[in-house]
Amino acid sequence: MPAFQAPRGTRDLLPDDHAQFARLERLAADLSTRYGYRGMETPQFEQTEVFERGVGGSTDIIEKELFRLQQRSEDGEAWALRPEATAGIVRAYIQHGMQTWPQPVRVSLIGPMFRYDRPQAGRYRQFRQWDVEAIGDPGPAVDAELIELGLAFYRGAELADVQVHLNSIGDQACRPAYLDTLMAFYRRHDGELPAEERRRLTTNPMRLLDSRAAVMVALNAGAPRIADHLCDACAAHFAAVRAHLDVIGVPYRLEPGLVRGLDYYTRTAWEFYRRGTEGQQQALGGGGRYDGLVRLLGGRPTPGIGFALGIDRVVLALEEGGVPVAADSSPLAVVVGADPGATADRLRLATELRAEGLAVRAELAGRKLGRQLEGAGRDGAHFAVIIGDELAEGHVQLRDLQAGTQRSIAVADLAKELRRAEASHRHG
Ligand code: HAM
Repeated sequence: MPAFQAPRGTRDLLPDDHAQFARLERLAADLSTRYGYRGMETPQFEQTEVFERGVGGSTDIIEKELFRLQQRSEDGEAWALRPEATAGIVRAYIQHGMQTWPQPVRVSLIGPMFRYDRPQAGRYRQFRQWDVEAIGDPGPAVDAELIELGLAFYRGAELADVQVHLNSIGDQACRPAYLDTLMAFYRRHDGELPAEERRRLTTNPMRLLDSRAAVMVALNAGAPRIADHLCDACAAHFAAVRAHLDVIGVPYRLEPGLVRGLDYYTRTAWEFYRRGTEGQQQALGGGGRYDGLVRLLGGRPTPGIGFALGIDRVVLALEEGGVPVAADSSPLAVVVGADPGATADRLRLATELRAEGLAVRAELAGRKLGRQLEGAGRDGAHFAVIIGDELAEGHVQLRDLQAGTQRSIAVADLAKELRRAEASHRHG
């Protein structure tokens, strides 16, 4: 056992994994652009209060899973690593006066999030999210657009069988009465509640609905559902969201028990699951509307909505489904040489070809030509450029490793020839 290991719940992404993440994140960035959501970034830590207020102090994410940074005496602020992106983005929206920009402000963010969760497959302490937000749009059309955008990602990732679980969780107008009903229900089952749930019953009864405790999962199956207690405005909004989804042909499954694990949600809420994996409580992604959040963090009342997808969970699901890892980009050519010691020639030629924009690696270890060529084959290179005595006359050998052919070529023509081969390979 090595003396040092990556912290529990974190992972090193070795090049194969990294290639898969990079492919998915390129897809996410590309979709963001196509749908008109511009990339942004926020710090990976914020004042703790941004998360406590935004996500909600009595949620699991804040109560149990927040990575709080040790406070330093010279600055009085308490900081925490971000467990999610929405609160930080809304903080930035207010801080930078984005309320004065044309609304809605449509942004996306790809990056690491941190939650001190109990580690297991699909649940990490550092994981990556693609987060998308539309701030300043009351919906309902944008709600449908965002749900469809999430599905477009799974389609592009070639992950089949992803379903939308959809609900509306009401707003300030209808939720108080619902919470009374919910509390009355739990009070009738007081004896069955675990201690922690009994405590939360007075601070945040909605959170009992997404408790992972087995007794609660059973109890919650019979709990009153917010979807049955919506006010007229919320019910009309929800009906309009569904009508928009129908128009663009997005199927969904109504889940009246779905409430999500963050306090900022109002109205539309959804999660993405692979069919058949719902019971594992590991959504591939989720989102919802947060019409009260901008105000809660100190801005003018502004509606908002967004979602985030866990990239790690998509990678896992692709592996489980046997979808092959995306091939990492191999070099087009590797420069090798008959004289193991002539590393300067190989490095110089490779440098010149790379300056021409070509993907070329040089064999820099002083090993025999046979071993150099084996290495080029292992790398998946299309060509080997072989330097020999004829370099003095300005020529090298160009070996097509895939076709098994070889010919002499002037160094002056090499870049042009490689570029031509690369283009015909890419298109043909
Ligand atoms: P969330 O449901 O807490 O929502 O997280 C979104 C996704 O992040 C999850 O569905 C899951 O795929 C992934 N995820 C969460 N925790 C972990 C973990 N420990 N390990 C691996 N993956 C994880 C949010 O974060 C909201 N900010 C989404 C949102 C944006 N709502 C509105 N705008």
